[in-house]
Amino acid sequence: MKNTVVVVGSGLMGSGIAACAALAGHKTVLIDLNAENAARGASNAAKNVDELVENELYTPEEGAAAKALLASGTDYADFRDEACLVIEAIFENLEAKQKLFAAMDEVFPADVPICSNTSGLRITDISALCHVHPERTVTTHFWFPGHLVPLVEVVVGDRTDIEVAKAVKEELNRPAWGKSAVLVKQDLPGQLANRILQAVIREAVNIVEIGLADPEDVDTAVKAGMGIRFPVWGPLEHIDAASLDLCQNVQRTVLPGISNRTDPSPVFAEHVDKGELGYKTRKGIYDWNVKDMDALAKKRNDFIIYARKFLKTHE
Ligand SMILES: NC(=O)c1ccc[n+]([C@@H]2O[C@H](COP(=O)([O-])OP(=O)(O)OC[C@H]3O[C@@H](n4cnc5c(N)ncnc54)[C@H](O)[C@@H]3O)[C@@H](O)[C@H]2O)c1
Repeated sequence: MKNTVVVVGSGLMGSGIAACAALAGHKTVLIDLNAENAARGASNAAKNVDELVENELYTPEEGAAAKALLASGTDYADFRDEACLVIEAIFENLEAKQKLFAAMDEVFPADVPICSNTSGLRITDISALCHVHPERTVTTHFWFPGHLVPLVEVVVGDRTDIEVAKAVKEELNRPAWGKSAVLVKQDLPGQLANRILQAVIREAVNIVEIGLADPEDVDTAVKAGMGIRFPVWGPLEHIDAASLDLCQNVQRTVLPGISNRTDPSPVFAEHVDKGELGYKTRKGIYDWNVKDMDALAKKRNDFIIYARKFLKTHE
């Protein structure tokens, strides 16, 4: 039986995805433009496996078995006869992805789903040049850090066979992957979860813009309020718990006063025009000369691990 997952693009996301594929028992090959990049990706994937084992999400035996399944290469075509799943994770450039997809569509047999980890592009556009079997192209959007965050959005493109998307979702939801895959039935900008995230960001920025609260307090309100419940308490479960008639009334009162803008808030331009791009320039909404991004990112990852352990024992 064909059991190899081919991950094309062995950067930040590719190495996270590969770690999960290997833990799920697949021989996993990381492909990149040159052997050095690909080998670095495989080594990072092994480190990701180690991190999951150190944090007791997998046993040392499972970790050792996964690491033995990791390999690297420079030509995906070498794996055409053993591949069961291909996941593309090259940089976010439509033309590059289109070219790669058209070429991979020529190489891989019809029963191999070819997936893209795109965060913002439509799989319909990425597969536009595929003329052999476009129905097996599908988005699998893993969230960063790819080995830690469970969510994978499986997005059905205009030419995707929904049965292929469902089969990919089913595979990713095998417990050994450590993933929670969801099916997104239309190929729209923002997929599913980024639509929700953008709604939150729009109102968070709006609250700062209208002077309702300072940035620290906005972030505290999200982290200490709705955010701490979200791992086990979704917004739709919430409205059923609170009752729909109550939420209908809350919407009547609150919605007219919150942002419904369809362009970026001027808050972005105010900062961007001054070269304040956020952490990468050390200044944005916050002053990152004072705030510690490394410590914050570590705290985020530690919390994700803590939450995943909780969820594992409370399923
Ligand atoms: N970084 C994130 O937070 C994040 C989150 C979710 C999704 N994504 C998406 O995942 C994809 C990869 O992002 P990343 O952050 O891992 O990028 P990255 O720059 O870390 O890695 C991309 C890798 O792809 C390789 N590559 C480029 N063209 C190639 C080709 N034709 N064949 C083989 N390898 C090739 C590069 O050499 C590089 O190693 C993008 O589509 C991105 O939008 C990123």
